[in-house]
Amino acid sequence: YESLTVAELGRKLGREPSGIIKKLFMLGIMATINQELDEDTIELICAEYGVEVEEEIRIDYTDLEVYFEEVDVEKNEANEIERPPVVTIMGHVDHGKTTLLDSIRNTKVTQGEAGGITQHIGAYQIENKGKKITFLDTPGHAAFTTMRARGAKVTDITILVVAADDGVMPQTIEAINHAKAADVPIIVAVNKMDKPTANPDRVMQELTDHGLVAEAWGGDAIFVPISALKGEGIEELIDMILLVAEVAELKANPKIRARGTVIEAQLDRGRGSAATLLIQDGTLHVGDPIVVGNTYGRVRAMISDIGRRVKEAGPSTPVEITGLSDVPQAGDRFVVFEDEKTARQIGETRASEAIQESRGEKTRITLDNLFEQM
Ligand code: GTP
Ligand code: MG
Repeated sequence: YESLTVAELGRKLGREPSGIIKKLFMLGIMATINQELDEDTIELICAEYGVEVEEEIRIDYTDLEVYFEEVDVEKNEANEIERPPVVTIMGHVDHGKTTLLDSIRNTKVTQGEAGGITQHIGAYQIENKGKKITFLDTPGHAAFTTMRARGAKVTDITILVVAADDGVMPQTIEAINHAKAADVPIIVAVNKMDKPTANPDRVMQELTDHGLVAEAWGGDAIFVPISALKGEGIEELIDMILLVAEVAELKANPKIRARGTVIEAQLDRGRGSAATLLIQDGTLHVGDPIVVGNTYGRVRAMISDIGRRVKEAGPSTPVEITGLSDVPQAGDRFVVFEDEKTARQIGETRASEAIQESRGEKTRITLDNLFEQM
């Protein structure tokens, strides 16, 4: 992984660079302040200052978050291509979230699959006019709270379902706050328009108080009237999702090793640990050595949203995998490593650290963000 310059190491250790240069000199290394130091040299210097760094480097190396964002990404924008948006649906109880998810899926099921299709995992992908959209089926609130608590951002767009006969309710407001905090664009689906008591103007009026002003009223919030039950307005809603996605310019690099987030996981009889992953960058293949949260393994089998076995899956694709040594948690990050040995090492270290942490045994010297800004 990364190296540090003498000056950077000095800052991390809170020491003068001149002192470090002197110590390097004593070790027979002539260095300048901007000299890049490798891992071994950094360890030597840290030892000189009585700082146990060996473990710290290991910890940073096992920090999937650091890995996720920074390490080992061939930052080659030329390889970045458009990726499908990942959409979650939020809204108050009974306002029609599940009905909408079903309706979208049914609208887009191809003839050949009709009847035979059952959703196998808590996410699915549709294709409309050659463009894909991934929908997460996890209850929107849970997706935002558990995943955000873990620092994972999975959603690109959120659909706020508001029943036109009921209007803005407590969980509607909660959903708006979650989406705003996560900086995720909102599309308002004004649902149950088929009902005689539907009052979309009231919904618009109430949402204005929460910063969502309809375009018709001079704002920039997108409102789409729908009936999830009757399948009306679904096409318009999908068009709006694609429009918002286009503006967001979502990109990923399918040529790098996969990384992403666990959507859900459980122990499956016969198959062992089964985890639904959302691939956020790169491409995941059967056989890939992988660290998932505090567990690891090799991707044994991969199953698509419609229950088909697949060999590889690219950005924004949800897949279920087997082959992990243990069951990870929703919101956990995953990263594919080059070789199984490294994956196992890191996975095992993370597992034992998690146990230590739960026992409150975390008592080591911290140089926490040693490689963080690298
Ligand atoms: P929770 O998961 O419990 O929060 O509810 P939900 O938001 O998933 O709502 P769900 O889709 O289960 O719908 C609740 C009820 O509203 C069901 O009886 C649906 O049939 C009904 N419903 C949903 N959409 C519509 C619609 O467009 N029109 C009418 N008339 N009823 C609808
Ligand atoms: Mg529901």
